[in-house]
Amino acid sequence: MMTTFRHYDLLIGTGNRAKGCELAELLEPWGFQVQTLLEVDGDPLEIDEDGDSFAANSRKKATWQARHLGCWVLADDSGLEVDALHGAPGVHSARYASTQATDLENNAKLLAELGNLPGSKRGARFVCHIALADPQGRLRAESEGSCRGTIRTEPIGTHGFGYDPLFEIREYHRTFGQLGPVVKRAISHRARALRAMVPQLVNLVADGAWES
Ligand code: IMP
Repeated sequence: MMTTFRHYDLLIGTGNRAKGCELAELLEPWGFQVQTLLEVDGDPLEIDEDGDSFAANSRKKATWQARHLGCWVLADDSGLEVDALHGAPGVHSARYASTQATDLENNAKLLAELGNLPGSKRGARFVCHIALADPQGRLRAESEGSCRGTIRTEPIGTHGFGYDPLFEIREYHRTFGQLGPVVKRAISHRARALRAMVPQLVNLVADGAWES
């Protein structure tokens, strides 16, 4: 006898392939068939991330895209909050040095802002907020995850992206740039936010939300 498994379609509201793969890996074992904006049929919206919090941005990306494309959408927004900079760069993490800034430029600006503060004053955290919207564009679930570390005085390591070469995980005495994807998948802000989202997704499926 052949058994057929039901799949639940879910669009990840990102055009970032690496992020899409990271999220797909955690969602597919639960029966979710994941696509990103790079593969989707139709014409996705270009959404301005102009909110004043990670939550506002991820809610906007999920609800607007879901209503526009008529499908379930999971969207995340994340960034770095540095204690000594009162939470900056925060929602401006991608464009900290300028609107078109590269990772190198953003890292250089962060180092300049922190100057020669000692390690004990260089605490920071990555934060990720995830929002889920249904095909009518209604917000149906949210989760958040964070990961604490220290900003090094110079970049080290070639893995990852963004601030990874500066972000040291205290327990490992290494940056995300040195540690690579296996550790990141276990302890990153995004992995933690997604793991907090999975039970909510599974409950929605069990309640028949994907049937309507
Ligand atoms: P996004 O909202 O996830 O695209 O992230 C916005 C910005 O935050 C990125 O362009 C990076 O500068 C920074 N960021 C977010 N997550 C990470 C991460 O896991 N490592 C390094 N930088 C990150």
